[in-house]
Amino acid sequence: MSPPRILIVDDDADMVSLVREELGHHGFEVLPARSGTEGLQVLRDQPVDVVVTDLRMQDNDGMEILRATSDIQPEAKVIMITAFGSIASAIGAMRAGAFDYLSKPFEIEELALAVQKAMEDTRLRRENVLLRGEVERRYQFGNLIGASRVMGVVFDLIRRVAGSDINVLITGESGTGKELVAKAIHYNSERRRARFVPINCAGIPETLLESELFGYVRGAFTGATTSRKGLIEEAHGGTLFLDEIAEMPMLLQAKLLRVLEDKEVRPLGSNRGAVIDFRVIAASNRDPRAQVTAGAFREDLFFRLNVASFHLPPLRKRGEDLRLLVRHFIGKHATAQGRPVTGISREALALLEAYPWPGNVRELENAIERAVAFAESETIQPNDLPGFLHEGRGNIVDVGVARAMTLKDLQEQYIARILEETGGDRDKAARILGVHPRTLRRRDQRMERARQSGGTQTPFPGDPTVTARPGDGQSVPSPTSSNP
Ligand SMILES: Nc1ncnc2c1ncn2[C@@H]1O[C@H](COP(=O)(O)OP(=O)(O)OP(=O)(O)O)[C@@H](O)[C@H]1O
Ligand SMILES: [Mg+2]
Repeated sequence: MSPPRILIVDDDADMVSLVREELGHHGFEVLPARSGTEGLQVLRDQPVDVVVTDLRMQDNDGMEILRATSDIQPEAKVIMITAFGSIASAIGAMRAGAFDYLSKPFEIEELALAVQKAMEDTRLRRENVLLRGEVERRYQFGNLIGASRVMGVVFDLIRRVAGSDINVLITGESGTGKELVAKAIHYNSERRRARFVPINCAGIPETLLESELFGYVRGAFTGATTSRKGLIEEAHGGTLFLDEIAEMPMLLQAKLLRVLEDKEVRPLGSNRGAVIDFRVIAASNRDPRAQVTAGAFREDLFFRLNVASFHLPPLRKRGEDLRLLVRHFIGKHATAQGRPVTGISREALALLEAYPWPGNVRELENAIERAVAFAESETIQPNDLPGFLHEGRGNIVDVGVARAMTLKDLQEQYIARILEETGGDRDKAARILGVHPRTLRRRDQRMERARQSGGTQTPFPGDPTVTARPGDGQSVPSPTSSNP
């Protein structure tokens, strides 16, 4: 077995050599990085077991290293070195997912001990994963989890798209994992060594968004006292993630389109442009086609971005994913909070399954995180779950209004509730609902089919779940032909 590999990131060269030497004596292989940027580079290039990073550095600080680690190498543990007495930053680091922290000055032995503890934790966790079997890993791609057929297709397409440089458009409701898919593409592509630069196009005033994207030179406008690189330039060699693309103002859309065509960026106030090598992944939680029809989104830009497209269906259409995600989040948050929670009761799971999750995976994860904190035994019970899951039991119409549910979803919820009340008696339920029992049987069959296919009904009518435009070198994967 190869020795555990530790990455040490600190802009204090003496510190780096000291740690390198001492941890070397303990049988660890130590990779040195004398700046945040160098640290990020190593993270992108080589697998490591533990990252030891100083919090305060000249360039990228320790928190950035921590975030990058959880994106690129989620299994690696991070130990943060904080300034003496700065409890607030230590707490901040732990909240953000650091495994441990040491405050300066510390004995090198303390560090060796912390690293050993981290390795032990990793070992236990790996054993656990092995116990749970290979199965789980087949349903995972980077940080993405999914057992539904549709997620299997998404995993396949990520692999294929990552191997190319084509533009990608990802659609799906809020919290369905669009950014996670974008990161998975970036970190599996040739561009992984350079940056993944996200920018949210919604809610930023037009002029600000423009200067953020393209940068500016000193004196370009009042207040521009220095020059600043734009985000496109920051993404040189890497990936630019344009979130909420459909919200971008029309005028800026035209400018962006020109940049995508020429790959040349001219900062505001400058008359010289620079050629930038970047890939674009865009995302939207509205249907961009509808935005095009409504005249709010340029069709030419849409075509430019939509070379390959992903649609992530809402969580309520992905029953198998929900169960897998619940298990995954219980494990994740039990470990993070150091709580001995390992499972969920049938009744509690039924509540989760009955809820439509308008906030999708993000909302589910929040609910589980809270439930893990509240649980009084190893198993999450209905009472540990947030109130809105129970309120749903009270007045289905109010919940529908509060959650802005579609008529169809509300109808489905209502049918499910009546079936529950009648103990699954189709005939009795049909009488209450005022429909023919056959209608309910057809619904059962439809549900069954949807469950088997991972659910492909979407609020994006006419938009197949996963597509690629013909002629772009991508074959069109069929949502039914592949399985994880
Ligand atoms: N398939 C998945 N497996 C594991 N975690 C997921 C999955 N999908 C989403 N998540 C988690 O849910 C949260 C939301 O995901 P993400 O930010 O990618 O969603 P989004 O579609 O970009 O949402 P928004 O439109 O609101 O920006 C994140 O914490 C992410 O880790
Ligand atoms: Mg997002």
